[in-house]
Amino acid sequence: MTEPPGRERYGRVPFSGGYTTHSRPRRLVLPIALAVHGGAWNLPDDEVDAHVTGVAAALTLGWDRLRAGASALDVVEEVVRALESDPTFNAGRGSHLNAEGNLQMDASIMEGGKLRAGAVAAISGVRHPVSVARRVLEDGRHVLLVGEGALRFARASGAELCRPTALLVGRELERFRAIRRGRRSLVDQEFRAMDTVGAVALDRRGRTAAATSSGGTQDKAPGRVGDSPIPGAGGYADDRLGAASCTGWGEGILRVVLAKSAVDALAERPAEAAARKAMASLRRVEGQGGVILVDRAGRVGASFNTPRMARGLATQEAGLAVGVERGRLKRA
Ligand code: GLY
Repeated sequence: MTEPPGRERYGRVPFSGGYTTHSRPRRLVLPIALAVHGGAWNLPDDEVDAHVTGVAAALTLGWDRLRAGASALDVVEEVVRALESDPTFNAGRGSHLNAEGNLQMDASIMEGGKLRAGAVAAISGVRHPVSVARRVLEDGRHVLLVGEGALRFARASGAELCRPTALLVGRELERFRAIRRGRRSLVDQEFRAMDTVGAVALDRRGRTAAATSSGGTQDKAPGRVGDSPIPGAGGYADDRLGAASCTGWGEGILRVVLAKSAVDALAERPAEAAARKAMASLRRVEGQGGVILVDRAGRVGASFNTPRMARGLATQEAGLAVGVERGRLKRA
């Protein structure tokens, strides 16, 4: 197995049973790690359970797949697909409506070996935007497709299509109607940052990947694109350092290129400290949101400046943990 450059910096990896017990050849077992988010915002009390349950289910699914030897790229896609299927979250089914009452979704996926990336923006009529992004990545000709062109590509590449309204849930229709009746607080206070979903992973072969998916901001202008489909802003992966996925108010995240800033911060510090350092840059633009990270040593980190962030973290040392509050997470 060829080691990606930089791996040796950490030497023997810190988890129990660093070497397998098999007789020859003795092989170093590399760490795996996974982090998942279901949005950073002022998540109300009555939505906490659904967010924790959804994130825990996605985390468990991804962890089982990573342990079974799946690639980081496959795992982040599968985790984000699960979150897109869960109407709790603002991604796929459950996405916010834009100001004209339409769903326009954004998603990206990136792998940290050759820095291949695929993304779609302002797309509707597909069940899993992240899987269309994956097809863009595999196709390799482009990185980002938008709107009608993205839908045409989805159709031609055999992605799962649906009626746009198939992803609309009653909660979002009610919010849209409330905003039209003048409840602007739903836009500028309650949902200034929101529950975009994302996942980052480190697999057994030292490969990293990031995936992010969002219905965008509540009541956004038609054609508005957030951070989620922009490599470097909503997500980034580089096997030399680690991977990041962001959530929150996209306009701020775009301007500080938050995911790339977070991954770059890993050059000097572990995941948790790098997440905090990256989040400090959001202050300059009065941004709101959060970031999750994995690093090459199998550590995970999360940081946010909103009242709550739904997240799940899994490492070999600490096991699986989920939560929405600041501080310690609960075992999943
Ligand atoms: N973070 C998602 C968005 O602003 O669209």
